[in-house]
Amino acid sequence: MKRVLVATGGGDCPGLNAVIRAVVKRAAQEKDWEVVGSIQSFDGILKEPTEIKILDDAAVKGIHYQGGTIIGTTTKGGPFAWPVKNKDGSWGSADRSDEMIRKLQYLGIDAVISIGGDGSQKISQALYEKGLNIIGVPKTIDNDLSATDFTFGYQTAVQICTEAVDKLKTTAASHNRVFVLEAMGRDAGWIALSAAIAGGAEACLIPEIPYDIKKVKQKLDTRFLKGKGFGIIVVAEGAMPKGGTALAEESTEVGNPNLKLSGAADRLAAELKVAGVEADIRTTVLGHLQRGGIPVAYDRVLATQFGVKAFEMVLEGKFGQMVAYRHPQVVGVPLPEAIGQQNLVDPKANLVQTAKGVGIAFGD
Ligand code: F6P
Repeated sequence: MKRVLVATGGGDCPGLNAVIRAVVKRAAQEKDWEVVGSIQSFDGILKEPTEIKILDDAAVKGIHYQGGTIIGTTTKGGPFAWPVKNKDGSWGSADRSDEMIRKLQYLGIDAVISIGGDGSQKISQALYEKGLNIIGVPKTIDNDLSATDFTFGYQTAVQICTEAVDKLKTTAASHNRVFVLEAMGRDAGWIALSAAIAGGAEACLIPEIPYDIKKVKQKLDTRFLKGKGFGIIVVAEGAMPKGGTALAEESTEVGNPNLKLSGAADRLAAELKVAGVEADIRTTVLGHLQRGGIPVAYDRVLATQFGVKAFEMVLEGKFGQMVAYRHPQVVGVPLPEAIGQQNLVDPKANLVQTAKGVGIAFGD
């Protein structure tokens, strides 16, 4: 019997379970393959006792429409930076990658499918360079991986954000207020941009287009005639004013190197007041609501395509590659290509021009 190990790493994302199920279902069509899940990314392999789970038909039954991941995930540590407590009580890190590869051999693992974002796929590439038979599957609600047209989870996040715009519109209109809705998107403004178009927001502020607060106010002024009117602004968490930076704090979580982005909506509300906006302003931060719950059908389909393809790449021995959607195909791309560049919103792209075409202001 051959064994393929599946791990989910980084922030969770609607559709992870659909990928896991697709790998298991496709593998079941081959007589000699068993699928094993590592609990909480590669931590399950590195922990003593080992935390792994056999993933058979029963384990994945009906999970394709469940959010989260049945094998858990983590944004902390990893085989190259395992958190270690120093003698003085501070935290350092250790490279346990060789030990992990030895343990995978001991467990009879022939191949690994690593489902994760940018950070996880950098780890996949480093493990591949050390000789591990690994295949990456891209995931992130932010849709910021360049090698694939879309990542699963993104459409679900857009749907959730759009529904929030729809809901805020009725209360904004009733009270003649301005609502600032903060969406996720640390480097890329895809969620905010799509939801602003779908929901019909007045302005959309994204990391790729730093804003001038006076221009944002000008747009709101056109919406408030004789004090009546309302306005919705969708702002990505990584948005910044011209000459400024995104608002972020250092993570206090041991082993989590990521900055925590927060405060874009409140900053914008304060800036609008200083700029002279008279209407009442309220802020709503969507946060992790965008990552939770049932994946929309599109994400389930894409996740299933990715899972089937990933296992077929295992069969073909196409290691050191990441599965990618390049319309209309699902293909394998070399990992260095996949992690080399982020997929950011091009200010000249059609989606931005479309938004401007229906009057959405970017403050540029
Ligand atoms: O990378 C996806 C993402 O959703 C970002 O948009 C956000 O900044 C981050 O995850 C939050 O992650 P955490 O789970 O660490 O709070």
